[in-house]
Amino acid sequence: MKEKKVSKTVTLADIQNKKASGEKITMLTAYDYSMARILDEAGLDIVLVGDSLGMVALGYDSTVPVSMEEMIHHCSAVRRGVNRALLIGDMPYLSYQISKNEAVKNAGRFIKNAGCHGVKLEGGYDMAPTIEKMVKAGISVMGHIGLTPQTAIALGGYKVQGRDLKSAKKLIEDAKAVANAGAFSLVLECIPSIIAKTITEMVSIPTIGIGAGPHCDGQVLVINDLLGFFEKFTPSFVKRYVNLNPKIKEAIDNYINEVKNGVFPGPEHSFRGGEELLEDLKSENK
Ligand code: KIV
Repeated sequence: MKEKKVSKTVTLADIQNKKASGEKITMLTAYDYSMARILDEAGLDIVLVGDSLGMVALGYDSTVPVSMEEMIHHCSAVRRGVNRALLIGDMPYLSYQISKNEAVKNAGRFIKNAGCHGVKLEGGYDMAPTIEKMVKAGISVMGHIGLTPQTAIALGGYKVQGRDLKSAKKLIEDAKAVANAGAFSLVLECIPSIIAKTITEMVSIPTIGIGAGPHCDGQVLVINDLLGFFEKFTPSFVKRYVNLNPKIKEAIDNYINEVKNGVFPGPEHSFRGGEELLEDLKSENK
């Protein structure tokens, strides 16, 4: 297969222009250098170092325990693999909710220390003043409303949002507030397609959906879900493009068997030469 050549650096303006042109925005998560390189070379628009890191890479039960240090560490690794795509770091729980100043300071670390182009944070109307302050400080912000996993318990669990009139109206109010505060784009998570369509048509910034139907300006998935590389659970809105888990297990089984049976390493995986040293080594060890 011919290798795809994608070289142009993706800018915030490119992302915003896609809303007008109707070209869909593509975003996926990455947590390490190797995966970041693959996504970047594939021509993805946005790489998100999501705080889903906590669940799929660090083994926590939710995104709540993820720390600033963990996010900065993984964003820095991903940064080294991204040359072209826009790189967004996800602000972890309580890194932006305590005060606006702390939010700016922590967001600044994603930009200054980890080399991200912008940050994402969860929350709507209530977070708008914080987003405004961050934008005034020169930080590009991606909003995130609907199901917001950091506060899923307060929302009654991991469930679809905006199913009744009151909560649908709240979502619209949240989307408008985030857009008016200066966010450059907005993630819509787990909301009915028709509500996502309404929001997408109502706000001037691009919407990026996850479990929010086909009418958003772009789509995002957690890379481990797309690859079938996370067994604990798979949300119903995820499409698995490949199921890596059994393939990886099969490869590891083969490795174990071959090592145990002396099949690996074979001559093709071993270095030749050194026979002439044998006698000298033997005599030195006498
Ligand atoms: O943490 C994450 O990966 C996310 C995306 C799923 C939007 O927030």
